[in-house]
Amino acid sequence: MKSPYIWLSMAKLIELPKIPDRRGNLSFFEENRHIPFAIKRTYWIYDVPGGETRGGHAYHKLEELVIALSGSFDVEYEDATGKHVVSLNRSYFGLYLPKLTWRSISNFSTNAVCMVAASDFYDEADYIREYEVFQKILMP
Ligand code: TYD
Repeated sequence: MKSPYIWLSMAKLIELPKIPDRRGNLSFFEENRHIPFAIKRTYWIYDVPGGETRGGHAYHKLEELVIALSGSFDVEYEDATGKHVVSLNRSYFGLYLPKLTWRSISNFSTNAVCMVAASDFYDEADYIREYEVFQKILMP
């Protein structure tokens, strides 16, 4: 029987390299090596007032890696497997979110910095901003 679900790669928490050093630790990631895509854009969210939520959308094609460079926050995401919450609070972990993943980011700590590496340039046409539209695309 034909599955009603679109076949997608799954979100996953990726442990990034960490080079411990008494002078301070160092972490990094390289495209198509530590993360499963090539990077065309990096952006970051910071100075988030208490109680605010970012995101609240999915993308048709974009893949992203979300890292708590500083502080902590929660990423709630939904894909074909259901709803999940991941708390990010270590700068050597990245949450990979493939295309067609609904996400919102909340519970930002004071001074949290959320860095996102993205697989493509900014394109408003790639956004799915209505949850009902997302659900229809995910499970037609
Ligand atoms: P948006 O992605 O909607 O924010 P959130 O992280 O809360 O989902 O982007 C907010 C605004 O910033 C929107 O007007 C588009 C603009 N923007 C860019 O111009 N370039 C970018 O790379 C990003 C991520 C956003």
